[in-house]
Amino acid sequence: MVRNPRFDVLFEPVRIGPVTAPNRFYQVPHASGMTNALPQVRAAFRGVKAEGGWGVVCTGAVSIHPSSDDSPLPFASLWDDRDIRAHALMTDAVHEHGALAGIELWHGGACSLNRTSRLAPLSPSGMPWMSTHLGFMGNLRPRTMDGGDIRDLLRWQAEGAKRALQAGFDIVYVYAGMGYLPYEFLLPEYNHRTDAYGGSIANRVRLVRELLEATRDAVGHRCAVALRISLEELRGRPGVNAVSEAHEAVELLAHIPDLWDVKMDSSPTDCAPSRFAPEGSHEPIIGFVKQLTTKPVVGVGRFTSPDVMVSQIRRGILDLIGGARPSIADPFLPRKINEGREHEIRECIGCNICISSWHDGVPVRCTQNPTAGEEWRRGWHPERFAPTKSDASLLIVGGGPAGLECAVTLGRRGYPVTVAEAGRQFGGRLTFETRLPGLRTWGRVTDWRLHTLRELEHVTLYPGSTLDVDDILALEHRHVVIATGARWTKMLFSPIEFPVGELDRERVYTPDDLALGEIPLGPVVVFDYDNYYMGGAVALHLAEHADSVTYVTTAGNVSAWTFMTNELPLVHRALSKAGVASLTLHLVADFDGETVTVADVYTGVQRRLPCRSLVIVGMRKPRDELYRALMERSDDLTRAGVASVTCIGDALAPGAIVHAVYSGHRHAREFDGEAACSDAQPPAPYTRDFPL
Ligand SMILES: Cc1cc2nc3c(=O)[nH]c(=O)nc-3n(C[C@H](O)[C@H](O)[C@H](O)COP(=O)(O)O)c2cc1C
Ligand code: SF4
Repeated sequence: MVRNPRFDVLFEPVRIGPVTAPNRFYQVPHASGMTNALPQVRAAFRGVKAEGGWGVVCTGAVSIHPSSDDSPLPFASLWDDRDIRAHALMTDAVHEHGALAGIELWHGGACSLNRTSRLAPLSPSGMPWMSTHLGFMGNLRPRTMDGGDIRDLLRWQAEGAKRALQAGFDIVYVYAGMGYLPYEFLLPEYNHRTDAYGGSIANRVRLVRELLEATRDAVGHRCAVALRISLEELRGRPGVNAVSEAHEAVELLAHIPDLWDVKMDSSPTDCAPSRFAPEGSHEPIIGFVKQLTTKPVVGVGRFTSPDVMVSQIRRGILDLIGGARPSIADPFLPRKINEGREHEIRECIGCNICISSWHDGVPVRCTQNPTAGEEWRRGWHPERFAPTKSDASLLIVGGGPAGLECAVTLGRRGYPVTVAEAGRQFGGRLTFETRLPGLRTWGRVTDWRLHTLRELEHVTLYPGSTLDVDDILALEHRHVVIATGARWTKMLFSPIEFPVGELDRERVYTPDDLALGEIPLGPVVVFDYDNYYMGGAVALHLAEHADSVTYVTTAGNVSAWTFMTNELPLVHRALSKAGVASLTLHLVADFDGETVTVADVYTGVQRRLPCRSLVIVGMRKPRDELYRALMERSDDLTRAGVASVTCIGDALAPGAIVHAVYSGHRHAREFDGEAACSDAQPPAPYTRDFPL
């Protein structure tokens, strides 16, 4: 297929100081969670993006000194020469495909709590960078940097830049974003200095200027020098000589870096979840930068639509289309556009599971792309699949995320596959969940897979097909995969923290009942101990229908786990705006049809709330009756020529969509034509990586 000429502009080379990006697709710095400890895993993860057409592929934040120690969060380092080889593996992998490699040198200042190095964090004025989340709280206050510390910082940056050059990087960053040290100097409320680094905006950008100059001195003209800077806070402050302090900061530094990489200030606005921010959400903040500099500008905004990308360039907003999450969800996004296959792009859904992996301290994982992080250790390429070894046909029962992903991957391997789905629509849990406020974009999980399946000749899709054991035996498929999902239960929550006893009474609902169209009578109490998105989303949904909705959770926060996905503050805000009252650290002890009894999880003190309907968003159980029934008929299965029956996804172990997709993918990858693998029959372990 040929490229649509409308998108030609995206494939123009762009000069960045002494180097040239082959096109406008720029994978901005984003952490992989792989660190220097998994150098092969990391190199393959980045190399695949270069292969997929990203013209520039960057590292995530790379610490330049032990006083910038993010542990227990995973971080990369370039503290001394021994770190160089691990990074060189990545630059080789990126260069192999003609892309440029960039490195984001990073000092976290008061935001890196130095839990391992035990050095006092550095900061402009000794003020702590406080946190509302326990994981980010520290109890060692930072110290104020003196002139010697500033000289040290400049030296660490310069030494890091020289090592970066040795590792083969083409673009070296100064990072003044998101609460980290150079950014901390930009804010007058935080920077109370009375020397040349505090006070006026010219003084507050001085450290950034000096870091840029130190980097340039270190690398000369062998590398480009880039500045990544967060402008959201400064954009909101009127300037003395310009519209805002952000304008003034950009004017003051306009021609110093070879590239401007502009972003937002906090993770929830920068890496904004799709539930609360659309594609291109950064533009109102960063749209002015290009007017003030002649240097190329890269920006982000979960760009997956080539038309939106072209528009950003044609309207003079950006020169390079930055992508972090879109490059994880589909490392081959640029190549697909280049080859006229833009309809094949596996679009990021903005769920931020990738970010949660970083918070979890593990290599990045992705809902849409189950191969992320598995390129080297399991040998999973996002676009290449081992061809089938047999013509054995497979029946997949259940067309939710696990079943569809399994079908896509088996189909791409060349297996004849039939997918039978009981519902009229494919998508499983997503058919309801995408109707909840803000969750429409998640429908891409289903859409991409259905689209791909429809292009595969040997895959047959049967919606509205409820199969029992006899039906399955009669169909005579050699292999059967059960992907029948999970159901929500009406279990309550024990004071010692596990699900207990079903509350099966009138007007007690689960999300499954709401999916069938039930509208509970108000006042409604939503009791959430699942703690991911569902409880908050259901409360918002019900607030559209009932007068009074109270959200009760055992956790200390609404949708507490969504802290991991950057959604928590936005869920909190949305519930408050929708008039939903929240009661944290409480469990539901009883419900009599008119009132619900709640108890404080620590003291046990009870009270009653008016409630005519209770919705429990708690525990899910596998919908595995069909699987169990099949297993009881092993003789009949053998007679019918069924060689294997495997249970995948939520039907095996209920979890987030990312786990279901992964489970479906893994089964399809590891299926060898005869034997089948499951968690009960572990496959060969993945290849282990070691620090160099
Ligand atoms: C998993 C993950 C890790 C990230 N790590 C970094 C990082 O190390 N340094 C950085 O400047 N930004 C980091 N970011 C922010 C991204 O670079 C980017 O600004 C943000 O995700 C918005 O871009 P997008 O909409 O294309 O994802 C990270 C984002 C993700 C998703
Ligand atoms: S995990 Fe979600 S947000 Fe992150 S890249 Fe994948 S689809 Fe996008």
